[in-house]
Amino acid sequence: MLEGLMAQVARIVILTGAGISAESGIDTFRSAGGLWEQHRVEDVATPEGFARNPDLVLNFYDMRRAALENVAPNPAHEALARLEREFAGELLLVTQNVDDLHERGGSRQVLHMHGELKSALCSACEMRSPWHATMIERPPCPVCLAPTLRPDVVWFGEMPYEMGRIYQALETCDLFVSIGTSGAVYPAAGFVQEARVAGARTLELNFEPSEGSRLFHETRLGPASMVVPQWVDEVLSRAAE
Ligand code: OAD
Repeated sequence: MLEGLMAQVARIVILTGAGISAESGIDTFRSAGGLWEQHRVEDVATPEGFARNPDLVLNFYDMRRAALENVAPNPAHEALARLEREFAGELLLVTQNVDDLHERGGSRQVLHMHGELKSALCSACEMRSPWHATMIERPPCPVCLAPTLRPDVVWFGEMPYEMGRIYQALETCDLFVSIGTSGAVYPAAGFVQEARVAGARTLELNFEPSEGSRLFHETRLGPASMVVPQWVDEVLSRAAE
């Protein structure tokens, strides 16, 4: 199986989820004690929740943004950055994560399909701006100056970013790799099927079997900090043969 998965790999699409940042100390969503046990999705991750209680929502994301200062990338983030530097083929790294650990681990090209904590979206002019401070005080938008900033995070019921580019890459990739995601949220959960229809091999790296495991050609179980560097070593050493 490994031979088949690694042979003739020229175009790779990688999807990461909360599991890749778990060992850095960021809570996942659906584990016991995870974020969706601590908070109701409809309160903090929907446009309706924001309209009902903006202070609650702004505070939730202000705290998550501040918490990024106390965490660091782990060997899984660093391995994917090494893959970006050393893999001679095409690589698209798509993350559902709103943290910045891929970038801090050294990745230069990261597509944040669910947005980013360190970005602000203006509800008035719709411009996205880099953002590192809190939003609870209703600071002005750096572009139009209206006090209408919201977290630049995709909420349930909203369209994720860059879907055209992602589907284009899925249609032409020969390997799709899903890392540390439960496969519970669409459209990301459907990427494996898109890749398979396009003829790609599919590999899942996860701590435990996920809802979507049966859809992959191969699943490797273990903590991301171990299985991701191992897989990257394999890809790079095979490419060097
Ligand atoms: P989940 O919390 O749903 O799933 C995390 C996955 O990571 C699970 O499959 C775990 O088994 C796995 N995992 C945990 N620790 C791991 C480790 N050390 N190494 C490898 N895997 C590990 O998080 P996501 O799948 O990312 O969306 O959630 C997808 C989306 O649902 C999020 O982007 C967010 C959420 O609602 C929005 O907010 C729009």
